[in-house]
Parts: sequence; structure tokens; C-alpha cells
Amino acid sequence: MAKLTTHPSWHALNQHQIEMRDVQMRDLFNQNPKRFEEFSLTVDDILLDYSKHRITKETLSQLFQLARDSNIEQWRSRMFSGEKINITEKRAVLHTALRNRSNTPVYVDGKDVMPEVNAVLAQMRAFTEQVRNGQWTGFTGKRITDIVNIGIGGSDLGPVMACDALKPYASPNLKAHFVSNIDGAHLMRVLEVCDPETTLFIVASKTFTTQETMTNAHSARRWFLQAAKQDQHVAKHFVALSTNAKAVQAFGIDTNNMFAFWDWVGGRYSLWSAIGLSIALYVGMDNFEQLLAGGHAMDQHFLSAPLEQNMPVIMALLGVWYNNFFHVDTHAILPYDQGMSRFAAYLQQADMESNGKFICRDGSRVSYKTGPVIWGEAGTNGQHAFYQLIHQGTQMVPADFLMPANSHYKVGSPDDQHHKILLANFLAQTQALMLGKTREEARAELEAQGMSGQALEDLLPHKVFEGNRPTTSILFKQLTPFTLGKLIALYEHKIFVQGMIWDINSYDQWGVEYGKQIASQILPQLNTNEPVNSFDSSTNGLINYAKKIS
Ligand code: F6P
Repeated sequence: MAKLTTHPSWHALNQHQIEMRDVQMRDLFNQNPKRFEEFSLTVDDILLDYSKHRITKETLSQLFQLARDSNIEQWRSRMFSGEKINITEKRAVLHTALRNRSNTPVYVDGKDVMPEVNAVLAQMRAFTEQVRNGQWTGFTGKRITDIVNIGIGGSDLGPVMACDALKPYASPNLKAHFVSNIDGAHLMRVLEVCDPETTLFIVASKTFTTQETMTNAHSARRWFLQAAKQDQHVAKHFVALSTNAKAVQAFGIDTNNMFAFWDWVGGRYSLWSAIGLSIALYVGMDNFEQLLAGGHAMDQHFLSAPLEQNMPVIMALLGVWYNNFFHVDTHAILPYDQGMSRFAAYLQQADMESNGKFICRDGSRVSYKTGPVIWGEAGTNGQHAFYQLIHQGTQMVPADFLMPANSHYKVGSPDDQHHKILLANFLAQTQALMLGKTREEARAELEAQGMSGQALEDLLPHKVFEGNRPTTSILFKQLTPFTLGKLIALYEHKIFVQGMIWDINSYDQWGVEYGKQIASQILPQLNTNEPVNSFDSSTNGLINYAKKIS
């Protein structure tokens, strides 16, 4: 495959950026009253408004050409058809099969995976119904009131985010807790509010070897057995979500209580698999299947829409435009929905673990930027924290603003204003970031407030907003399981498209492995009283100081 920087479209975009870098979005809006219509798109109820970007039709046409030069359509078919595009781990990338509600066969190594996918979904349905209707009881015959998902990374972030987002659909009889951090405080704070007689632990780990998860799971098991006394009761209170049946058995969990998935499901793409069991328990299997259906609907859009009307493709290309041609390092995710307060954290893993790579698929080093730093916070909290920098800082921070038009909540009186105030803020921020405020406008405003003379001149520069700061608005009807599924899949495909353009393997994570390796070398040193001198002087110094003061 030709290198990215050798494509004529790459060269054309570099030239085009020179023409575009001083273009003001407010002028583009003034020149074209139809800009919103021309630069927006809907998929079902989801509206993507990408008019507040530093782009013209010309920009987009060159970006679409770059996507074509990068063979995006071919890569898309290769992923969906089960080809082993995760080359370093020699695995297919088929989270799309987990939500393949059309049930058309999907082959890995010549075998249709759909029967197994459906069998696990049926197992999840039977189990979740029993727990939710009280048929599944704890060792003293009481019904389950608390579920504790023990997992980390992809075995935690998706379920945490989705359970929070879908709380309006949750069973009032079940509380969901999540333990991920190896810091004992995380587990202890959850156990403090749980009763061993009525708590179900879900040990979620693809490999069933992850140090944090296995340590937390063993500690939870000890806590449980202090009350239950007999090992046989573990079967009623511990289930496993894993690809590793052997390790699950060795832990003492009955393999009848194991929900399987497969090596073609990447950790950060696994909430659609058995890893979603906590979601299914919390909101019910029908709602979990709605989540899958939403993901599938976005897959169908991604597969069938021409690149020019393809939502994930457009979002990916806008990211490439800023990342590679404006040399921007960051991208903010700003959901105006309290339920989506973990959405940015979820996408941080999905995006940064996927596209934080400097090696091309052929093993050579990239000569351009790959994945940006992803971060964010629910609006309006972010407004009172870091938006100052987005408005008046020295760097450009492209941002996605997401919001449901309808809330699940009515607060107090029927004319409750909470959601309208939230919407007004969502709309105001993207407008302000685009328009800015010129010196003349700021002066007029200060004069209208009665200011004049030196006092006005002194304050004036601080009141100017350069504007021209790009945002995408994603507005949808309501945060339902179906819509959440679509939104997650939208970002997954955006990440895929960017990874393919950057010619990296978005589906491995060797960087994480490296940290784990070093930690395993350090741990034995913390269990001796001897001073350590086998590492670099900083690491030695820190270990020895920690030993001295602990
Ligand atoms: O963070 C690295 C990682 O391998 C993720 O990709 C994965 O989601 C997480 O660790 C947890 O791994 P496991 O599910 O095997 O415990």
C-alpha cells in the first residue's frame, strides 16, 4: 500500500490548509445561508451538524479523496467479513458480529460465528431473567439486590458508561457497582455497602489473567466466604465473563456460570459481548438487545452510505483534517447529558488505546501524527472548569457536543426548565466558539454598559474572542438503549476509519503490556526489606523512599 504522505490528496490537503488557515467560519456562514443544510446529516433521529468547522466543499472533497486513496471501503469490507486485520495478534475484528441482528452468517476461519453468538445471548437472557425475577437466590435463599462487576479497561468502562447512561431503564430492585482499580479502596468502598447474602459478583476478564481483576476477584471471594463459609456457595454468587474457560475453572467458578466470548472481540470493543452482562442485568435483556440493535443500525449505515453521507467517515475525516493538517493534538468529548458523564472516559480507551500507535502496519515508523488526546466532561460542568481555554487559550481544541433533545427526567413542576437551560448552554457554546467576539463588538458592548476612556481600553483586549474554534454538534431525540448503541458504534467506526487512514493496527495494545511487564519486575522488590539498586536511579530512589516511609 502506498504511504499516506505520498497520496496526491495528502499533498493537496497540505496546500489547501494554507488557503484555509485564515478563513473565518463566521464569513463562511455569512456567505452561505444554506451552510447548515449543506454541512449536516441525519441517521434516524441523530443529527450531525458539522457546519461549524473550518472547511469548505473543497476541503471535504479532498478529504474524501484521501479516504479513497487509503482504501477505506475495501478495509471496511475486510473488517466486516472477518478477515484477520489485527495483524500483530492474527485476529479478526468482529465486534460487529456480536450485534449482527440480521443474523446473516459471519465467518472466522471458515466457521459461522453467529450460532455461538446467539447461544451466549440466550444464556444471558435466561440468567438475567432469573436474577431479575428473584428465581436466582443467594446462599441463604434471599434474592440478589447488588451486582458487582469486577473488571478493568474494556471489561469495565463500557458497562460502567452504559449502566450510567441507561439508569432510567434500570430495575429498581438491583444496584450495580463496578470495581476496577487495584487500589483496595475501590473494592472496600463497594463491599462496605453490600451484603454477602444478596450480592452477585461478575468477574469480567477476557484473559482471566489481568492482575487487577484477579486480585480484586480473589479478595471479593475471601470476603464472601467469611460469611458463607462453604466453597459450594461460590457458585451462587460468582459468575465469569471470559474467553479463558480453564482459568475460570481454576478460580473456582462453575463453567456453567461462565459466559463466553472470543478472541475476535477486542477488550475495548467488548461491551456488546458477554462483557455486557452487568448492563443486561441492570436494564434487562430486552434493553440490552435494543443497544445491540442500535449498534447494528449504525453498522448498516456505515456499510451502505456513500462516503460523502457517511457519519463515521465524516467525523473521522474532520479529525484527520485538524490532526494532520492543523497539527492539533487534542479532541474533547462534551456530552450535555448527566447520564453520559462517563462517555468521554469510555471513548478515551476506545480511541487512545486503538490509535495511540507510532508504527505502521508494515512495521515502519509513521511520519505524521496519529491519535489525538481524547478527554472531556459532561456539560455544563465543563463550562465552569476548562472551557475558558477552549474559548481563549492559545491552542485549538476541536470538540464534539452531544445532547438529547428530551430528558428522561422532569424535575419538580411541569414547566421544569432544567433541560431547556441545558440546551440553551449547548447551543450557546458552539455558537460562541464559532463566532467569537471582535474588538469592535466587544467595544460596543462595553460602551453599552457605560464604560469609556482608559478603563475601557484596558479591559477591551481581555473581552475579545478570536472564535473560529471548530465544534461538531450531535443532537438526538432521547438517550434510549437503541440510540446509545448507535452513538457507540458511530465512534467505533470513526476510530476504525482514522486507524486505516493512518495505516496503523487499531486493534492491539502492546503499550499497555509493557507497563504490566515492568510492574511484575518491581512487585517482588516491594516485598523485601533490602534497598534496591537494580533499576534506574529514579526508580531505585522512589522504591527505597516508599519502603522507608511505609
Ligand atoms: O488495557 C489493556 C487491556 O488489555 C484492554 O484492552 C482490556 O480491555 C483490559 O486490559 C482488560 O483485560 P481483560 O479483559 O483481559 O482483563
